[in-house]
Amino acid sequence: MSLRQNILVTGGAGFIGSNFVRYMLKQHGEIAIINLDALTYVGNLENLDDVNSDPRYTFVKGDIRNREDLETLFSSKPIDAVVHMAAESHVDRSIVGAGIFVETNVLGTQILLEVAKTHGVKRFVHVSTDEVYGSLGETGKFTESAPLHPNSPYAASKAGSDLLALAYQHTFDFPVVVTRCSNNYGPYQFPEKLIPLMIMNALQDKQLPVYGDGLNVRDWLYVEDHCAAIDAVLQQGVPGEVYNIGGNNEWKNIDIVKLILKKLDKPDKLVSFVKDRPGHDRRYAIDASKMNETLGWKPAHTFEKGISDTIDWYLNNQSWCHRVMSGEYQEYYKMMYHER
Ligand code: NAD
Ligand code: DAU
Repeated sequence: MSLRQNILVTGGAGFIGSNFVRYMLKQHGEIAIINLDALTYVGNLENLDDVNSDPRYTFVKGDIRNREDLETLFSSKPIDAVVHMAAESHVDRSIVGAGIFVETNVLGTQILLEVAKTHGVKRFVHVSTDEVYGSLGETGKFTESAPLHPNSPYAASKAGSDLLALAYQHTFDFPVVVTRCSNNYGPYQFPEKLIPLMIMNALQDKQLPVYGDGLNVRDWLYVEDHCAAIDAVLQQGVPGEVYNIGGNNEWKNIDIVKLILKKLDKPDKLVSFVKDRPGHDRRYAIDASKMNETLGWKPAHTFEKGISDTIDWYLNNQSWCHRVMSGEYQEYYKMMYHER
């Protein structure tokens, strides 16, 4: 990046957001990052302790659903680009209560788009998800032209925000680019998601709750590779275009869980098959050839290395895990897993 740019990252205190802020500060000298985050149950400023004193980084507490918060921020400094990641992101929670997903993901995105458009933002990257495409059978992959068929309230709310972002580009010529990525894993992921949950339960010799028959398939990408892809889209993506991002790395859930047990030297008998997630998507697989052919991006991490580094990170950061798992999460965990 040649000129110093002010980049607003929404949801920068979450899993991908905090990895993205760190990645951008490392990759680009001439950059200023403003992290706007409401600090919900998952947002955690501790995730960015190591960059907090960097003069190129600023944190602003604010809610994308609150137009005043956004107007105050956009009026206080020129924002060149927005990378929009703030969202309610957990499928299971959207099944328990969908309302907040519509408020944050749909309404919050529309308010952010409107304020960013009014303030003449030159690039808006909307971070969407492969879940907007729905579920695949045993073969095939989603390309960018696949029809949208979201199945969970989370996926439907992300599809709503994804389409709103594209509509702002089409209607107002607002420079929106959309990314749709597969499952991420890596450091700082909240332990309600599959990989960190299984690592933490295995470390405590607790049961590992595998939904249904464990044969659902996800395509896993190391979080830093997703960050690099978003950076490429931010700089070179064409407004109005959608870019699929994926790891070309499909795993059945049960195989990932057994791999984690093996790496931690724990017995398979810790696996517990529990009641399935309602409406559980069977398989996701992403065709990311457009990212490769047009922007020259491909994953840099092998799964072998990525999963070992991730397990090591959780082993070395158990106090972080116990802190984020205290409080509200305890109630959530009991409700989710003791009722299954
Ligand atoms: P996360 O749940 O870890 O973090 C979300 C962040 O958004 C948190 O810091 C939270 O405090 C913040 N936030 C929530 N509501 C807010 C609001 N109203 N105003 C401001 N901030 C708010 O999520 P993640 O896993 O890091 O995902 C980030 C984005 O990437 C999401 O948009 C998600 O849909 C998308 N995505 C995630 C994955 C994945 O595998 N995790 C894959 C593809 C796309
Ligand atoms: O595909 C991208 C999406 O990946 C993102 O948009 C979402 O924000 C992110 O949460 C993720 O959604 P998934 O539902 O695929 O991720 P999760 O980690 O919740 O579950 C992965 C798989 O593991 C899924 O098939 C459900 C299963 N699972 C999950 C949990 C939490 C279990 O079997 N047991 C569990 O306890």
